[in-house]
Amino acid sequence: MSSKNGQDGSSLQTEPPLSFAISRRHALLGAAALLAPLSPSALLATPTTTPNAAASSLIRLDSNENPYGPSPKARAAIVASIPEGCRYADADIAPLESALARQEHLDPAHVVLGSGSSELLHIAALLAAEGGAGGELIAADPTFEDIEEFAAKFGVHTRLVPVNKAHQHDLPAMGQLINAQTRLIYVCNPNNPTATVVSRTALEAFIKTVPSHILVLVDEAYIDFVTDPAAGSVAKLIDTYPNLIVIRTFSKLHGLAGLRIGYGFATPALAARLRAKQLAFPNIAVLRAALASLSDDTFLRSTLQSILADRSRVEALVDARGLARAPSQGNFVFFEVRQPITAFRKTMLEHGIRVGRPFNRYDDWCRLTIGTTAEMDHTIAVLADVLPKA
Ligand SMILES: Cc1ncc(COP(=O)(O)O)c(C=O)c1O
Repeated sequence: MSSKNGQDGSSLQTEPPLSFAISRRHALLGAAALLAPLSPSALLATPTTTPNAAASSLIRLDSNENPYGPSPKARAAIVASIPEGCRYADADIAPLESALARQEHLDPAHVVLGSGSSELLHIAALLAAEGGAGGELIAADPTFEDIEEFAAKFGVHTRLVPVNKAHQHDLPAMGQLINAQTRLIYVCNPNNPTATVVSRTALEAFIKTVPSHILVLVDEAYIDFVTDPAAGSVAKLIDTYPNLIVIRTFSKLHGLAGLRIGYGFATPALAARLRAKQLAFPNIAVLRAALASLSDDTFLRSTLQSILADRSRVEALVDARGLARAPSQGNFVFFEVRQPITAFRKTMLEHGIRVGRPFNRYDDWCRLTIGTTAEMDHTIAVLADVLPKA
């Protein structure tokens, strides 16, 4: 099991401890800090490094988070929601659903919210389990394993299809595996961990071939980082293909991973089936933060610009070393390090940088999340030192 609790975290036994023993003095100081009035400027400031990195000096480039977030407008919305933390958030659901629908020229009935997009991945797996024992899921290898792991708990077996030589989903090979047991097909576009995309045309041609009783889930967690004009969202196709579910998240570009909100698009009928299986009820802080973040154009634009520029810097270094890599369309780069990734992770950790975990079929490749520009300045200097010279 490599993903945990639905998020793309990582564990490494050699990590230095991040926490310190809590003494009585620390506990008292902590309690005093909680009682002290919050400084709005501290809460609203955009950090130049991750809060955890500041606390531990560890640079976390292992979970594809966005350390620039939450956006200034989202931070203000979170703070403003505090006095209403005593109220249930029912009234805040519809405004966010409507805003998301508007962005795609869809109807709010097409939108389903989730506690992170992970909840929607889990719900899709539950739908796949509905038809009784023996159901199958088809997914790429490697891809984000959360849906496979969750589906397995409910008796749904996953048939994995190796990515092709270009590190992309092999859609024709995935299509060939469709049989009477197939209930669900998972397409992660861009794919985690390879960061590659399949084109919109190829994806629609594939969806068209899938029998309508089989669900197709397209995971667009990283769609905001796509620069390839041939690739892009298939959300607009949901009414054409009533078996299509498209999911997205506020955990990546919007930098709200710790607050947990994701969403999906499907026909109103399929959206209702997804909604019927929801377990979590959204909280007021994240609903307001997400709504505010959607309109924080200045933040979204500058964050995207920095991440794409730093992504190019990493790719240029990898290319200069003659190492193989996948063309990145996400907020992370996947490249060859010509040594076991476990050893490479240890080396990077010794330099205070945590990089991605091992992935199937790519034992000597590293998935590196793009952090802040300051973090990437340091990381690129370290990589220049530790990457093999061709
Ligand atoms: C491809 C993909 N989908 C979904 C998720 C889950 O994200 P969240 O539950 O935070 O929305 C992740 C997390 O890393 C991911 O990489």
